[in-house]
Amino acid sequence: MMTGNFPVGKLQQLDTPFYYYDLDLLRHTLGVIADNAPERNFNVHYALKACAVPEVLHEIVSAGLGADCVSGGEIRAALEAGVPASRIVFAGVAKADWEIALALDADILCFNVESIEELEVINQLAEKKQKTARVCLRINPEIDAHTHRNITTGMPDNKFGIPMADMQRAVDTCLELPDIEFLGLHFHIGSQITDMQPFRNLCMRINDLVEQTEKNGAVVRHINVGGGLGINYEHPNHIPVADFDAYFNVFRTLLNLRPDQTLHFELGRSVVAPCGSLITRVLYVKQGKEKRFAIVDAGMTDLIRPALYNAFHRIENISANGLAEQTYDVVGPICESSDVFVRNFSMAVAHRGDLLAIRSAGAYGEIMASQYNLRRLPGHITSDDINRV
Ligand code: LLP
Repeated sequence: MMTGNFPVGKLQQLDTPFYYYDLDLLRHTLGVIADNAPERNFNVHYALKACAVPEVLHEIVSAGLGADCVSGGEIRAALEAGVPASRIVFAGVAKADWEIALALDADILCFNVESIEELEVINQLAEKKQKTARVCLRINPEIDAHTHRNITTGMPDNKFGIPMADMQRAVDTCLELPDIEFLGLHFHIGSQITDMQPFRNLCMRINDLVEQTEKNGAVVRHINVGGGLGINYEHPNHIPVADFDAYFNVFRTLLNLRPDQTLHFELGRSVVAPCGSLITRVLYVKQGKEKRFAIVDAGMTDLIRPALYNAFHRIENISANGLAEQTYDVVGPICESSDVFVRNFSMAVAHRGDLLAIRSAGAYGEIMASQYNLRRLPGHITSDDINRV
């Protein structure tokens, strides 16, 4: 089996667990995005929630992407990384007053607003500061993304967005409120979507909703289709880049976009997931009554996706030199039975001290780490750091 290209000799000398970011792959991915979305009115805002490591942000900013933020902390990180305020959008179902104030002070491009109540609060705070808040309304388009229940967002029972039935009232409120400027409509249907059909369905729905909104007298200048493009977790070496070609083509061909309208994307996972791996060391190989366990020094505190979403991450024994394989449950040291990275998984025979790479962990990996069990947070190192030493 093909394995990733890891500088094992150098990684071997570091304290584990830690995240390793392959910046060459990230730069390649950013090039693919630029090639597949060359239109001047296509704007990609990177969703910082996926990974906010400064070295990673630096590459993303250098490639000219904007930022999609969901907290005051993310807005600060985006500004510090050099994202121009004019490329920052701010989403979130519950923006606190201080976060709204911060965004107004920074003069960000746009608030993605999720309720009429929120519109009124933003208007009040903008009035106090004698500013105008530009907003898109996040509409719940009721499109099934057919992804994991915990990461689908566009269904009627989700807390996200304004119901379609209330859209007109929300647009009218925007037009009435003196310190709100209505820019357009925002959507996001879920994450890790690899089948293009939900995105096609979203386009059809957006065309209808834009038409409806404009019939009622508002002008839709921004259409924000959110994020959600998935990656291939099964084959990180064979398919290391998401299918940006197919993705952007859906919107290019199916959305009725006028030249005076801009199209906005909020991609997170597809930008950064493949470039990150969690590097962990085998502490013990233990033969249980029915199973063989490879017990490693990383746990669900370092990468929670398998425990939280039952997500699959390919694991490679990057220290192995033989071809022989064995079946393992790869588990961590946390006092929780859900602290399992993978079950019944065949990989190169593992010994105490071997390094394992838990792949495709660049998105929603390090950023979701916790200190449960009073563990240290995982650190990180990049391929550029390794090349320098
Ligand atoms: N825009 C909005 C409004 C979002 O809620 C999200 C993700 C994105 C953009 C970026 O979506 P992406 O391109 O990354 O799919 N922790 C979960 C994923 C949570 C996604 C939350 N929202 C996981 O590890 O799978």
